Amino acid sequence: MYKRSYITTPIFYPNARPHLGHAYTATIADILARYRRAVGDEVYFLTGVDENTEKVARAARAAGQETGAYLNTVVSSFKDLFSEKKLNISYDQFIRTSDEKVHWPGAQALWRKLVEAGDIYPSSYEGLYCVGHEAFVTEKNLVGGKCPDHNEAPQHLKETNYFFRLSKYTKEIKKRIECAELQIIPEERKNEIIALLERGLEDVSFSRPSDKVSVGIPVPDDSTQKMYVWCDALTNYISALGYGRDDELFRKFWPADLHIIGKDILRFHAGIWPGMLLSAGLPLPKKILVHGFITSGGKKMSKTLGNVIDPDTLIEEYGGEAVRYFLARHISPFEDGDITLTRFKETYNADLANGLGNLVARILQMSSQCFEHPVDLSEKRKPFSVSQYIEKFELNNALIAIWSDMSVLNDFIQENKPFDVIKTDKKKAQLQISYLVKELFRIAEILELFMPETSKKIKEAIQQNKKPENLFPRK
Ligand code: MSP
Repeated sequence: MYKRSYITTPIFYPNARPHLGHAYTATIADILARYRRAVGDEVYFLTGVDENTEKVARAARAAGQETGAYLNTVVSSFKDLFSEKKLNISYDQFIRTSDEKVHWPGAQALWRKLVEAGDIYPSSYEGLYCVGHEAFVTEKNLVGGKCPDHNEAPQHLKETNYFFRLSKYTKEIKKRIECAELQIIPEERKNEIIALLERGLEDVSFSRPSDKVSVGIPVPDDSTQKMYVWCDALTNYISALGYGRDDELFRKFWPADLHIIGKDILRFHAGIWPGMLLSAGLPLPKKILVHGFITSGGKKMSKTLGNVIDPDTLIEEYGGEAVRYFLARHISPFEDGDITLTRFKETYNADLANGLGNLVARILQMSSQCFEHPVDLSEKRKPFSVSQYIEKFELNNALIAIWSDMSVLNDFIQENKPFDVIKTDKKKAQLQISYLVKELFRIAEILELFMPETSKKIKEAIQQNKKPENLFPRK
């Protein structure tokens, strides 16, 4: 059935070059967007960066650069990583929250809606703020007085802010999640947010005094305050569609079908964001897919531990397609997954060089020997055979199924030895080889979601009936 499908990644903090966690979120979002396009949906796929944050301003200061210039450099490195020659992320829009024309009108329009609903009120706040999280924290979140995730003591804040009456929406959010009007996937994450909602959501501070933060969107009608960065950032999902300015796309694509996020930002997306939308009288997104974290050697990647894997290092050595493959196949979308350089190399050699690359070379070698013209591919092909997995977001299982189809072809070659049959019975060999070529073409079509360039090369080789360049040289 024809559908409109709006798919988003979180907007990334451009306080440093992108890391493998960012590459992961973007890659699985891209695969899902490509899938929806392949089944005929009209897709709008959004990604971007979360710029109005203290984290970024601080990183710029540390680099001795002006914030705008620093941002342009880091944002280019995200765009470069997402470009066709690297991860090939097929987004329709890359939003920058520093963009006063694209993003700010939406953020300010939504703010006004919350005010109209009576959900914004001034109050004084005293507490702790972790810049790493860009969120308020409590003593019980700390270890030895420091935030354990960022190894840094929080700031002590005492100020007058605007608050958002989130507590008012606790019940309604819980109801919508329980009846699956807003689906949280997987179940474990849904239970986590339900438990949080059962304890009740507290009102959140939604602004900071302008003189205390160096960046941020001005609160409408009060120049002494700037919006809290999560209030600003979450709005990107609608401002990108023109909410608050030209809302044609907004009317066409909202509500989102799918927000893809990591587990660390669940409460913002399944708590604060639905609260804001309910307050503004807007429909809630339909699904939130919550993925786990990538670890390296069993540990969280961190600069201090020295186990950070730069996606560019992998891409330079193995190519963007291999990175996409590894992330989709070997990191479960629902749990934490581990990567080491050794494991990456082993996988590359086994699954891609010896697996896919070898199979393609063998089949096309035989086909070019046996046929003068390309095999006729005009007959109706089977429908998308991995839909059952992808609809459930089991990208790893989809790839396992494709590789098992490939081993069926390998077994067929092993048993029937068409390369020998050619010598004695050309007709029989032609039947065997045309079966192999058609199956390979079908596999290449599904691979478009995971490895678009490889898929294209295989299809072209089949259509030209010639052996392609070595797709995955052994390392
Ligand atoms: N700016 C916020 C999101 C705002 S969305 C309105 C943010 N940015 S982030 O750069 O820290 O993270 C972006 C995404 O990358 C999140 O989905 C996060 O979970 C994901 N990852 C960050 N580190 C990760 C790993 N090590 N592994 C997998 N994904 C991780 O949060």
